[in-house]
Amino acid sequence: MRKHFLRCITCKKEFDPKPGLYYCEDCGKIMGTLEVIYDYDSIKEESIVKEKKFDKKASMYQFDFLLPAESKGKFDEYVGGTPLYSFDLLGIKNVLVKYDGSNPSSSYKDRASSIAINRALDEGNDTMFCASTGNAASSLAMLNAHTEMKTYIFVPASIPDGKRAQLEISGAEVMAVEGTYDEVYDLSLELGLKKGWYCRHAAINPYLLEGKKTGAFEIIIQSDFTVPDYVLVGVGDGTVISSLYKGFWEFKEIGLTDKIPRIIGVQAEGIPAIKEVFDKGKPYIPLTIEGKTIADSISVGKPRDVIKACNYVEASNGYFITLTDEEILDAIIELGKITGIFAEPAGVVPYGGLKKLIYEDKITQSDTVCLVITGSGLKDVNAVKDTINKTSLSFEEVVKRFEE
Ligand SMILES: Cc1ncc(COP(=O)(O)O)c(C=O)c1O
Ligand SMILES: [Zn+2]
Repeated sequence: MRKHFLRCITCKKEFDPKPGLYYCEDCGKIMGTLEVIYDYDSIKEESIVKEKKFDKKASMYQFDFLLPAESKGKFDEYVGGTPLYSFDLLGIKNVLVKYDGSNPSSSYKDRASSIAINRALDEGNDTMFCASTGNAASSLAMLNAHTEMKTYIFVPASIPDGKRAQLEISGAEVMAVEGTYDEVYDLSLELGLKKGWYCRHAAINPYLLEGKKTGAFEIIIQSDFTVPDYVLVGVGDGTVISSLYKGFWEFKEIGLTDKIPRIIGVQAEGIPAIKEVFDKGKPYIPLTIEGKTIADSISVGKPRDVIKACNYVEASNGYFITLTDEEILDAIIELGKITGIFAEPAGVVPYGGLKKLIYEDKITQSDTVCLVITGSGLKDVNAVKDTINKTSLSFEEVVKRFEE
């Protein structure tokens, strides 16, 4: 495991890692989220970095020189190493599409669950717990199914059937609660920390972001150490977007690249909590809003990684935009038609966002762009139920159709 220390995002106090330490108590659970910091000067000198010995298809553990846990799980060698496609999209040649629906549980969240499981094992835990809009929970439940550890899952009862099915078939203890994600998060965090279970909640466990940042490392190595001008991604709690910034920043810090892309966060117009905080400007003050969206995975009114997300997006010279539910649904169908990629609502928002920014002339044909598609559409087929044509044909009708 790579040596590191933890640093509060707000007061910058430094901590040695220890079991049960999740946040800076002086600053609190949201203002006091922790960053994981390594000795970049020494990592820079390692042969894997100097010789750029990477594999475009290998799992995320090829980056163990910048990870706080070693691979132990059966699934680890299949987490990450997801495809980076290139498409001619919306008038831009070579739009890069990082498709993380091809992870074992079909979402980006496997990168975080894998690290969390390995750290929980390292620390000798027998139980893990997770509150989630759906994907983090189904990811933890599935990747943890084969270990001896028990998994408690807390989700809003309204999660899509695909994600619920993943939870049920993996044998986790599922608490599907009548409430919003924000309410379920608070309820379960209090309970789980009191019980001393290992916590796989967004943002509060600093190691989750470490797994997720490997998506940025892969974008870099899969595009031969070039960095796009823009990276777009969906935003709920703000951990995925923060992880992308950190990944690009770390590869620059160890001399593998010379640039960080402008990072654009795409939220749902119905519940744009981080965008509101960001647009009000510094100092960033967390807030709680109410609202809803069809994009369940980013239906978050009390974002937990809001401070990192705002600081990092600002540092990248990026910003946040929103899409209506109608734009999100159109984007699913359009992306499917053009590329064959079926994304869940929160996963497709980078495509809808790109369309909007091109329309507004904020991104032009000469820009290089990467869309991070974070989850498979098979998790939530109900979102596109109106497009499912259930009419059936008789044998005779089929034969007749092709007679002429
Ligand atoms: C498919 C998908 N995309 C995007 C996100 C947003 O990630 P974050 O909550 O870290 O902002 C999530 C989170 O659940 C997700 O499941
Ligand atoms: Zn602090």
